[in-house]
Amino acid sequence: MNAPWSMNKRAGTAVAARDAFCAFVCDEATVEILKPVVTDMGWQAEKIHKGGLRNAVQTLSVSASPQILMVDLTDCHDPLTDINALAEVCEPGTIVIAMGEINDVGLYRDLLASGIHDYLLKPLHSEIVRDSLHNAQAALHGSKVTAQDEARPHVAVAVIGARGGVGTSTVASSIAWVCAEQLDRKTALLDLDIHFGVGALSFDLEPGRGLTDALENPGRIDSLFIERAIVKASEKLAILSAEAPINAPLLTDGAALHHLQDQLVQSFDAVIIDLPRLLAVQNPHLLTEISEVVVVTDLTLAAARDTIRLLSFLSMHAPAAKVRLIANKVPAQGQPEVARKDFEASVERTIDIMLPLDAKHAVAAAKQGKSLAQSATGTKVAAELAHLAQQVMASMSEDGGTNEHSLLGKLKDLKSLLAIKK
Ligand SMILES: Nc1ncnc2c1ncn2[C@@H]1O[C@H](COP(=O)(O)OP(=O)(O)OP(=O)(O)O)[C@@H](O)[C@H]1O
Ligand SMILES: [Mg+2]
Repeated sequence: MNAPWSMNKRAGTAVAARDAFCAFVCDEATVEILKPVVTDMGWQAEKIHKGGLRNAVQTLSVSASPQILMVDLTDCHDPLTDINALAEVCEPGTIVIAMGEINDVGLYRDLLASGIHDYLLKPLHSEIVRDSLHNAQAALHGSKVTAQDEARPHVAVAVIGARGGVGTSTVASSIAWVCAEQLDRKTALLDLDIHFGVGALSFDLEPGRGLTDALENPGRIDSLFIERAIVKASEKLAILSAEAPINAPLLTDGAALHHLQDQLVQSFDAVIIDLPRLLAVQNPHLLTEISEVVVVTDLTLAAARDTIRLLSFLSMHAPAAKVRLIANKVPAQGQPEVARKDFEASVERTIDIMLPLDAKHAVAAAKQGKSLAQSATGTKVAAELAHLAQQVMASMSEDGGTNEHSLLGKLKDLKSLLAIKK
């Protein structure tokens, strides 16, 4: 626990491995509220024990204390005195979140003064528990989340292809590059195509083991872990990508992915997720925190069919997200397989951006190990990709963009940078 607690437990004894999390709660209803939140955080639901503070003191007197401890004070007659008994058995640095039924500001202040990190009033609410645990994690790693941090505008963008090979990864890496290098935002590109992803490859980088490690050990995912796991394409652009072996497929559960996504959003201004559509379909909860979805398609019959299905899926599972439809590889001359007008009629919405087929620059980008937006600077395809990134990032702007130091101010500057060469 935090100062001013006296910590004299286990002086001279071997330090046992510490669990990331453990809870001691008095009633079944609280257990049920905690379970899904704890699982989402990547911890085991088995770490939620029945029995309140007394059980916590008994258990922790003979075992290592966890990094984050939740303890129920409902059964305590004198919470402050009982909390001192807990201090005697807790190891230094343990973050303790207490909960109870007493709604009293005086008690709340006294508990915080005695080193408790937070006090939650029962009955618990999932969102409040989640926030408190995130704060505890941040405090654990010395980066306590402040009100200012929480207000920090950020955007989580999922880029999903209606079909394979339509250019989803090309669009995702380009949006990420524009956000980082031209809009000056701290950006992460998360490539969730774990086995066949090209997130790192498209920037001529080795993916490293960061993402694989993160998904194999979800309990370890925190801001510090992410800092080590990412591969830096530049000062502002971080890549999290993998080339997991295909002979021993990495089994990932949706909770780990969700937790990873959550952690990235806390650490970066913009998180651009290259999200394979099958993964999204199998784990729709990955879309719950997404503010922007970019659906990439080409103008073919099969893609029209799948765009219809994907848009309907998104309206069900990401109702609050802004969805943009991008047609890629649109031939500069001649008719595409399905004309734009017919495509729009069949998917019952307009296409937001048309990206031209530009084989010459796509090949050059691959050879240079650069995003298409960077490699093709000055061309129509790069200008449209930058325009897309601007639109996506404009949702971060809080002040309407009148201020020239605002994001929209920067976007206007960018427009002048992007004079299209013929
Ligand atoms: N506008 C474009 N013009 C020409 N080539 C393009 C364009 N966009 C993407 N490509 C090329 O199409 C190929 C497939 O692109 P990409 O890997 O981005 O597709 P994807 O949809 O992510 O594929 P997958 O379904 O395998 O993940 C790449 O060789 C890429 O360079
Ligand atoms: Mg791809």
